[in-house]
Amino acid sequence: MTSSPPPDGSLDPDPVTRLVLDEATDVLPGGWEGAEVLVVDDVDAALTRGVLAGGGRPLAWVDDLREARVCEAAGARLLDPEDGTPLPVVAVLGRLSPAVAAVEDLAERLAAVVPEGVRVVLGGRVKHMTLAQNEALARSFGTVSASRGRQKSRVLHASDPRAGTPHWPRTTVLDEPALGAPLTLRSRGAVFAGGRLDAGTRLLVQALDAGPVADGGDALDLGSGSGVLAVWLARRGLRTRAVDVSAAAVTSTRLAAEADRVAVEVSWADGLEDVADGSLDLVVSNPPFHVGAAKDSTPTLEMIDDLARVLRPGGASWLVWNAHLPYLPRLRSAVGPTEVVRRDRSYLVTRSVLR
Ligand SMILES: C[S@@+](CC[C@H](N)C(=O)[O-])C[C@H]1O[C@@H](n2cnc3c(N)ncnc32)[C@H](O)[C@@H]1O
Repeated sequence: MTSSPPPDGSLDPDPVTRLVLDEATDVLPGGWEGAEVLVVDDVDAALTRGVLAGGGRPLAWVDDLREARVCEAAGARLLDPEDGTPLPVVAVLGRLSPAVAAVEDLAERLAAVVPEGVRVVLGGRVKHMTLAQNEALARSFGTVSASRGRQKSRVLHASDPRAGTPHWPRTTVLDEPALGAPLTLRSRGAVFAGGRLDAGTRLLVQALDAGPVADGGDALDLGSGSGVLAVWLARRGLRTRAVDVSAAAVTSTRLAAEADRVAVEVSWADGLEDVADGSLDLVVSNPPFHVGAAKDSTPTLEMIDDLARVLRPGGASWLVWNAHLPYLPRLRSAVGPTEVVRRDRSYLVTRSVLR
């Protein structure tokens, strides 16, 4: 294994990216000049730049829209992983998700579209890696091995793709009193709560079920994940939209709505960017509390600041959040009168009405 300087000549602080590029260079001695290389969840476009620096043409599957935009700006051609079109790539370079379900789903989708001789090199921080990730890859690739660690990072190599019957999106049926009838989820592996009903989401559904929620009007599920809240809203007869920044969530929400035979307009978007001013009577959300692996409440505070713009006068925003988070004063100042309508040992459900 060789350790080379950052491929684009810049100071690249990320040891995972550097290890992925170095390991890929080792298994593809001829390099990728003139060839297509798929980059997966290239969080800061450093892999995209590495492929370009080696004369390759980067294609990208990126789950998070914000990261997808960065990769596109760096020169990658964004592809829809749901497309299923064969990809004549020589290599797949990417970040390994700590979530085994996400790795298994990715491996299945890759094996269905990549050519026989492809080399897959996925890297991560050693502290986020387990043998279960190797096993998940090995269900779709005949050969899987781990590199030696370097700077607390490691890669998994996979080759010999074996397309089989896909297990993802995975179907689960939620049967909870507050949902009314059983609700079928069809979730991608990377989606929040993996097709289960999250404890916070359950508390929010119970609170909504107890009302008051109008039976008509325009509603939004902000950060829809598997789509459980969006389906709940649509079942209530509300004209329902759902947005999520994760492509896996967008697919999962669409599939949940289809399975329930309800209409939900689903968009891949960052927060409320696609939502017109004064267009909603109701926003519900179990908002994000992570950015990547790190806990960070800034994005949710920014979404709270934007709620007043999209609500109609008298419109309401129902949020569930971990009780230690600093949202209450912000909801009161940015939206309007806010009451805690339900709480348990961990979560609060708040209802804020636009002044
Ligand atoms: C805590 S999960 C809730 C998912 C689902 N509503 C549920 O209750 O199971 C938060 C969701 O917000 C999404 N998200 C995170 N940041 C976002 C952003 N900037 N814009 C839109 N969605 C975002 C995540 O992808 C995730 O699906």
